[in-house]
Amino acid sequence: MWWKNNIVYQIYPRSFQDSAETEFPNDGFGDIPGIISRLDEIKELGAGIIWLSPVYKSPDADNGYDISDYLDINPKFGTMADMENLFAEAKRRDLKIIMDLVINHTSDEHEWFKKSRDPKSPYRDYYIWRPGKIDERGRRQPPNNWTGFFAGETWEYDEHSGEYYLHLFDKKQPDLNYKNPSVIEEVKNILRFWLDKGASGFRCDVINIIYKTSLEDGKKSLTVQGMEHYKSQEGNHAVLQELRRMVLDKYDCFTVGETVFVELEDAKLLCDESRRELNMLFFFDHLEVDRRVARFIPKKFRANKLLEVMTKWQKGLDWCALYLENHDQTRIVSHFGAERNNKSRGRPGQYWQRSAKMLALFELTLRGTPFVFQGQEIGMTNFDFTRIEEVNDVESHGLNKLMKKFGIPKTLRWKWIKASSRDNNRTPVQWDDSENAGFTKGKPWLGINSNYKKINYASQKNDPNSVLSFYKKLIALRKESRSLVHGDFVPIHADNRIMIYQRKCVTNSTRTESEVYTVALNFSNRKLKIPKNFAYLFSGTLIINASGEQWDGSLLPWDGVLVKNN
Ligand code: NOJ
Repeated sequence: MWWKNNIVYQIYPRSFQDSAETEFPNDGFGDIPGIISRLDEIKELGAGIIWLSPVYKSPDADNGYDISDYLDINPKFGTMADMENLFAEAKRRDLKIIMDLVINHTSDEHEWFKKSRDPKSPYRDYYIWRPGKIDERGRRQPPNNWTGFFAGETWEYDEHSGEYYLHLFDKKQPDLNYKNPSVIEEVKNILRFWLDKGASGFRCDVINIIYKTSLEDGKKSLTVQGMEHYKSQEGNHAVLQELRRMVLDKYDCFTVGETVFVELEDAKLLCDESRRELNMLFFFDHLEVDRRVARFIPKKFRANKLLEVMTKWQKGLDWCALYLENHDQTRIVSHFGAERNNKSRGRPGQYWQRSAKMLALFELTLRGTPFVFQGQEIGMTNFDFTRIEEVNDVESHGLNKLMKKFGIPKTLRWKWIKASSRDNNRTPVQWDDSENAGFTKGKPWLGINSNYKKINYASQKNDPNSVLSFYKKLIALRKESRSLVHGDFVPIHADNRIMIYQRKCVTNSTRTESEVYTVALNFSNRKLKIPKNFAYLFSGTLIINASGEQWDGSLLPWDGVLVKNN
């Protein structure tokens, strides 16, 4: 399957590359002509698939994840002709494109929703409208006690029709009603439209919560109350099966589900090939090992915890979607890498580069399809915001409001938001050291990290020791190795700072020969010894190491090594 031995590169269009060739030239927003101008860079990296975050028409309440027309393009990004050109230019370079499928909700500015405001309209039942409840004091209350993903309300009252509509995200993102077969038919049409245009699959937004079995009150919970009524429901599986059998299976394409709060048992069902639902999915808990229940509260990082969680998924699923970053996360070098200890505003620290490479080694030596988020391949860091006003993300503002309500002091609120805001990953790609990092000739829609003169694509392109060159080497290596792509994952050892594992696979039909790789990663500032019991595993050939130093059998600070054992 072409999507197995391949690398996906995620583009978040508004932050990728602005161009002069749209209706809004140099407007500070990345656009489709900008993407076309950078396809060669993606190809050179070694990626074969692009995941394009939403480019559809949208009022941008949640940066395009609120779609007002699934079959048209947001003029900020260009036109349908630009999009067709992108498909053609990508194809010319043997790059496939998967689109973002956001079907849990639409925008409140979508025609369906506008029509559904009329209780008599056939579109009424496309969404989830309910009368409120009246409390003992005679006041109107929402239909249930659910709380939302953006730390806010989930029901919005509509004066016009005298009812509430459900929105698990922002109030401008009303949830669709998957009990209505017409909604499923509409989705099928959307899928066909893009597959016929040339899409090779979909990344499916929050796809395990689309079916609301009941609207009863949820159990008391600190986060997202009510989830037991809509997470991984039977009806949800049935919708996915129908879309797969009736549409997706007729094309050469794949899907990757974004499955929120997913547990292994659900994931196994969703990815079981015989059930025909998803091809793979994004789980989250590997990125939560140093966070508490509420994602933005930090706790100590431990490499052994990370290995334990990763092992659960590597062994539990036949095939994993591998990722360390995306547009909802923070930069991995600032999260699990050396930059998390760096207190200097924006300036990369001593081990910035090495730890970015070590983390690349981690992601690219696991079993599954790796996803690389724009900027990750040059080791971009979290943004050096100074005030909440510099943050655009709707989720961060929701959190700030909620924490304020609970009396959490401003300094603490800011500390948590700064470290966890999704805007950390949404700042424009740092292409070169010219003004605005070569991203735009206008005013960028979101601040550009002040370290762009030090961390940028142009300065790494021809430097054999750069993070970018390391990614390129590893991707090329992985593509040639059956064991690194398909081999078994074998955890060997971990403590708070070190992790060791192997990848193994049989390479001939009589099962007498195998290819074995051993990986050791150091997640600390200290030089560490490989524990004696495992030293023998490193007697093979050193293939690559993050430090680039002569390998003497010990792990330099933040180093990662890959050894071939036979
Ligand atoms: C997940 C997307 O990745 C995120 O960016 C968005 O805010 C929510 N789903 C709602 O669509």
